[in-house]
Amino acid sequence: MKTLIAYYSRTGVTRKAAEKLQKAAGGNLFEIKGTKDYGNYFTALGIARKEFSENELLEVTESVAAFDSYERILLGFPIWFSKCPQLILSFVSQYDFGGKDVYPFCTSGMSGADQAVELLKAACKGATVHNGLRMNKADESTIQKWLGGISS
Ligand SMILES: Cc1cc2nc3c(=O)[nH]c(=O)nc-3n(C[C@H](O)[C@H](O)[C@H](O)COP(=O)(O)O)c2cc1C
Repeated sequence: MKTLIAYYSRTGVTRKAAEKLQKAAGGNLFEIKGTKDYGNYFTALGIARKEFSENELLEVTESVAAFDSYERILLGFPIWFSKCPQLILSFVSQYDFGGKDVYPFCTSGMSGADQAVELLKAACKGATVHNGLRMNKADESTIQKWLGGISS
């Protein structure tokens, strides 16, 4: 199954999770990048809070080549205010997710992915959005179970 692992990471924790998933499941890595500098944790809180309150769609600087050719999309992000960053919704809005299997994964201080998964279900029209996985402590067998044992 052709797999894309698309992720956003501000400080590198989700990047490491994405790389771990690539080892476990195969697939191509794609880093979602925006144009904003969120600065330190405290300035990031302020900027992100404003993005949420305005439901802002952000510029995503690069596109996925041949997005249509992927059947399975592992979509990763840090949890921000119990949700996925607006950059993730902005990324999703650029593509046709019809018929695709989406596996949301996150890293966080403690929050799970549930609210983000609900947002992604609404945003990824026509896709099957699977349960989310918080990657902070996920081991190999948890990852395989989450993916239903399908490797690419
Ligand atoms: C703006 C902002 C909001 C956050 N909100 C939450 C939250 O609601 N719950 C939580 O457990 N962690 C929260 N965190 C912590 C991050 O989810 C966590 O540090 C994450 O692993 C960072 O991943 P990254 O290095 O890939 O950016 C927040 C961090 C930032 C910067």
